Amino acid sequence: MGEQSRTIVITGAGRGIGAATARTLARRGDRVVVNYRSDADSAARVVSDIVDSGGDALAIAADVTDPVQVERLVAETVDHYGSIDAVVFNANAAQPSFVGIEDLDWTSFEKKIVGELAAVYHLTQQILPLFRARGSGFIVYISSTAADFVGPGLVSHGTAKSALNTYAGHIAAHAAAFGVVVTTVAPGAVRTEASAAVLTPERLDAFARSSILGRVTEPEDVARVVALALDPDLRVATGSILRVDGGARLIAGGPVAAR
Ligand SMILES: NC(=O)c1ccc[n+]([C@@H]2O[C@H](COP(=O)([O-])OP(=O)(O)OC[C@H]3O[C@@H](n4cnc5c(N)ncnc54)[C@H](OP(=O)(O)O)[C@@H]3O)[C@@H](O)[C@H]2O)c1
Repeated sequence: MGEQSRTIVITGAGRGIGAATARTLARRGDRVVVNYRSDADSAARVVSDIVDSGGDALAIAADVTDPVQVERLVAETVDHYGSIDAVVFNANAAQPSFVGIEDLDWTSFEKKIVGELAAVYHLTQQILPLFRARGSGFIVYISSTAADFVGPGLVSHGTAKSALNTYAGHIAAHAAAFGVVVTTVAPGAVRTEASAAVLTPERLDAFARSSILGRVTEPEDVARVVALALDPDLRVATGSILRVDGGARLIAGGPVAAR
């Protein structure tokens, strides 16, 4: 492990984009905390893959929408590794209901909006004093290009991610004064377990055709951009939203989900 290696907490890292991010950062020499909510087996698999490859990882169960569990996540990380250098806010805390506005009940809408924001609010609130005390820190929020366009079934997901983008901007502006870099990484459709429920093979194929690259975005693609966002030489990107969708929004008509 080099002198430059950092301790990075990744929320929701047992599967999907979070797991790929943990593996990518560990390969680059960082110590990673693989946070998960309940699926201990998936988190243990990510940790053992990393450790077997010579990396350093620790799984910690904590529901990041619960401030008490977040406090324990921070305390256990600091106990084990001594400090926290960066947090990747990735946890997919509330699955959206992909239904049209007239079929969207308040409970589902509220669950998505509140879940999305609770998953970033408590940990941000608790990590900022640590970063302030040391005069540095990195935060990456995982948003979605669903915040950028309208389309059938995207009202709760898009509204939640728009709110996250705005929240991230406020945190970037606030925390810059004490050396914290805040970026938002916004993937388009990514092939993960969570997305498999709504992104059928036909739909994924349509997404691939609507991107400049002509292929679906994989979790590892997003992980590489998160790693870039955590590069200390890229502080100038603070406050930015880095979109990872193969350029889909540039294609006339926009991403297929909007149609
Ligand atoms: N997949 C896409 O197409 C796509 C596109 C754009 C943006 N995104 C965003 O990328 C992020 C990750 O998505 P994904 O598709 O990789 O998700 P995923 O495959 O469903 O992975 C979810 C992970 O989050 C954990 N988790 C869920 N709720 C949690 C909570 N309250 N506290 C702690 N951990 C929690 C899960 O833990 P357990 O397994 O223990 O429940 C699991 O490790 C999300 O923010 C999502 O909105 C995804």
